[in-house]
Amino acid sequence: MDGALRQHTIEAILDVPGVVVMLGPVDVGKTTTATEIANAAVQARLRTVVVDADPGQSDIGPPATVGLAVVRRPVRTMDRLTPAAAFFVGDTSVEGVSRYVVEGTVRSVAWARDRAEVVVVDTTGWVEGPAAVAAKVDKFRRITPQHVVALQWRGEVEPILARLPSGIIVHRVSPSPRVRTRSRDVRRATRAMRFRRYFAQARPHTLDLTALPVGRPVLHYGRAIPQSQMLAEISRASLRHLLVGLADRDGWLVAMGSVVGMAPTRQTATVVAPVSSLTGVRTLQWGVLRVAPSGHEEGRLS
Ligand SMILES: Nc1ncnc2c1ncn2[C@@H]1O[C@H](COP(=O)(O)OP(=O)(O)OP(=O)(O)O)[C@@H](O)[C@H]1O
Ligand SMILES: [Mg+2]
Repeated sequence: MDGALRQHTIEAILDVPGVVVMLGPVDVGKTTTATEIANAAVQARLRTVVVDADPGQSDIGPPATVGLAVVRRPVRTMDRLTPAAAFFVGDTSVEGVSRYVVEGTVRSVAWARDRAEVVVVDTTGWVEGPAAVAAKVDKFRRITPQHVVALQWRGEVEPILARLPSGIIVHRVSPSPRVRTRSRDVRRATRAMRFRRYFAQARPHTLDLTALPVGRPVLHYGRAIPQSQMLAEISRASLRHLLVGLADRDGWLVAMGSVVGMAPTRQTATVVAPVSSLTGVRTLQWGVLRVAPSGHEEGRLS
C-alpha cells in the first residue's frame, strides 16, 4: 500500500471508530495493515482489541482457533499480544469449518464491542468461489462493521463487496509492492511451530465421555456420530491426535487438546492439553484436524 494512501485510510477509520474488518486474498498485507490500524488507534488513545479470525496463520492464540487480544501499546507484530480469549475452530483450513470461524468471530467482536472503541478483525484469504463469498457475506451481515479495508490486486473481493449490507464504509487499497508471498510449505512449518509451542507444556488429562457433554457434533463420512458411539464407530487411528476444544460453560476455549488415548469400554479419552486441571471445562468440542503434540499435522477425520 502506498504510504500516503495508507495514512489516509487509517485517519478515515479513526475519525469513525468502530469495528474494522480486513478483506482480501492471501498475501496482500491484511495482517500488516491490521497491525498498523491497531497501533494507530492505541496511539490515538482509543481502547483497541484485535480479533484474529484466521485459524490457518494464527497470530493470537494457537492455530485452529479464533483469538482476540487487547492492544495496550503499539506492537511490531500481532503475535506479541497476549490472548484474552479464544474460540475453538478445529481445523486450520476453513472450508469445512467456516461456520465455526464465523461463530467465533461474531462472539469475539461482541466481546470486544463492550470493551473497546476500535476492534480490528484480521481474516483469512479465503475469498474466491461461491462458498467463500457466502461465508464472508454471512460474517459481514452478522458483524455489521463500520469499516471494511479491501486489499486486492485485481478486484478479487468485488463479489463480496457487491453483497455487503449498506452503511459499511469500504476502503479499497492496493497491496504494497513490498508484500511477500509465503509458500504452502512455509505456512505449514509456521503452523507446526505454533502448535508445538502451544503443546510444549501440555500434560495428559482423562475425559469421562459419559459425563462431559458434547459441544458440537462429530461428522464422520458425512454422518453425525453421537459421542457415546464415537469410540465404537471411529477407528483408533482416525481419532489419534484429533484436536479437541475443552470449552467453558459459555463455549469459550479453556484449552485445546490432542487425543493420545482411548478406552472404549470405560468410555474415556485421554488428551494432552496445556492446563493443570480441567476446572471450568463444561463441554467437549470435537475438531477435524489431527495434530501431534510435536506440532506435526497428520491429516483429517474423514
Ligand atoms: N507495507 C509492507 N511493507 C513491507 N512488507 C510488507 C508490507 N505489507 C506486507 N508485508 C510483508 O508481506 C508478507 C505478507 O503480509 P501479511 O502477512 O500482512 O499478508 P496477509 O494478507 O495477512 O497474508 P495471509 O493471507 O497469509 O494472512 C509479510 O511477510 C509482511 O511482512
Ligand atoms: Mg494474515
